Amino acid sequence: MENFQANQVYKMLVQLTRPRKILQLCSLSADSVNTLCNGLPDDGCLVTPESEYSSYKHCAQEKKIIQRKGRKEDILKELAALGEQYDMVFIDATEENPINYYNLIMSGNMLRMNGVICVPNTSTSRREGIDDEMGFMSREMTDVIKADARVEQVEFPSDYGIFIGRRIPVSQTIDQSKGILADDVFQGFKGQGILDRLRLHGKVAYVTGGGQGIGRAFAHALGEAGAKVAIIDMALEKAEAVVQELSLKGINSVAMAADISKEEDVKRMVDAIVANWGRIDIACNNAGINMNSASEDTTLEEWDKTFNVNLRGLFLCCQAAGRVMLSQGYGKIINTASMASLIVPHPQKQLAYNTSKAGVVKLTQTLGTEWIDRGVRVNCISPGIVDTPLIHSEALKPLVTRWLADIPAGRLAQVTDLQAAVVYLASEASDYMTGHNLVVDGGQSLW
Ligand SMILES: NC(=O)c1ccc[n+]([C@@H]2O[C@H](COP(=O)([O-])OP(=O)(O)OC[C@H]3O[C@@H](n4cnc5c(N)ncnc54)[C@H](O)[C@@H]3O)[C@@H](O)[C@H]2O)c1
Repeated sequence: MENFQANQVYKMLVQLTRPRKILQLCSLSADSVNTLCNGLPDDGCLVTPESEYSSYKHCAQEKKIIQRKGRKEDILKELAALGEQYDMVFIDATEENPINYYNLIMSGNMLRMNGVICVPNTSTSRREGIDDEMGFMSREMTDVIKADARVEQVEFPSDYGIFIGRRIPVSQTIDQSKGILADDVFQGFKGQGILDRLRLHGKVAYVTGGGQGIGRAFAHALGEAGAKVAIIDMALEKAEAVVQELSLKGINSVAMAADISKEEDVKRMVDAIVANWGRIDIACNNAGINMNSASEDTTLEEWDKTFNVNLRGLFLCCQAAGRVMLSQGYGKIINTASMASLIVPHPQKQLAYNTSKAGVVKLTQTLGTEWIDRGVRVNCISPGIVDTPLIHSEALKPLVTRWLADIPAGRLAQVTDLQAAVVYLASEASDYMTGHNLVVDGGQSLW
């Protein structure tokens, strides 16, 4: 028994909880199954007993549906033995034996931490013409869940009633006598699980060179994790385009034009962020340029241009943002170095670039140790060869096949490969890390 309202509730639930695996033990309409599957990622699945009542053959999302043969009880036991866990479980309160299914799921640890249990048809007793016994069963079912300290719950008063429970991370009833250590490891540091500690809500960030490539990916990642982000780029129109993208995702951001090799631009950018948002928590000094020439031909102009952006400009940013952070007593600086700080990438010739990036690592180590005791952590990320416009120059384009042979991962990095690293270094979860060069290169620097 279902209706449009129930479908809307399921839609909202999958959007809020972002499940990867759903276990559906009750019969749902093809519409509802489609709604649930739509909310699953490409590699997600909905597992359901093969049932005479439901055929999902024509469901648009059929490829995500796994139907299992057998009695529900046996299926549950098999799945528990396989160690399967689900983010969302559906049980019908008016079916035979729903409490038995619930107990099997909970004792088999099949409902993941923060997982949601949905029990449709909990208010059948209030509907005319429905067998009293069903009403009794649904009340019995909801009473069992209500009494379970591992789950918190709410009942939606839709036509047929939907009871929703969430498996809370740590139950309030900890039995210390069983040797359970109710410490930060068990309960989470400051009561937060590890994924919550990566959140950046309330943080103010900037990304230089944020208008494209790696900087754009960093800006999206920081924003998705909860930070407000200032997009700094020499090309204002690129920064503005990224701000447009972020605002479509509900992320607060602002675009600013600045040439980070100019002291006055760096000062203006830092002052503007502080005037706008009151502080700077995360400084991503990412803007950089790459030029190629054999060392015997490298001009002073190329050397100076490279160093003015990659090292002098990065220092100006570190110093200006660092002063704000030191006065706040907290901050995270993340510089973009390069695998070229560790190895000499070849066959392209890039003496000035390689040397400037080695300088970024030493600057990071020095600031990282000098400022940590005043709350400012300084780390850098060294990407391998990333597929961005930087390597699409006429000089570098023909070298891609050559590079691939040197990369154990067998492919170039995508900017998305770097996003978790920047969120980790920006979050409080990495507060004990400083002066570190986090290499993300598919193993290239090891060969
Ligand atoms: N692409 C790679 O393979 C690779 C590998 C390792 C490290 N890196 C480093 O990552 C960083 C970003 O590289 P990318 O590949 O995204 O580059 P990119 O050329 O695609 O983008 C760089 C962005 O920085 C901006 N910019 C350049 N100079 C600036 C300045 N003086 N002030 C402000 N903005 C400026 C540009 O307008 C551009 O939007 C650079 O520091 C680069 O050295 C890149």
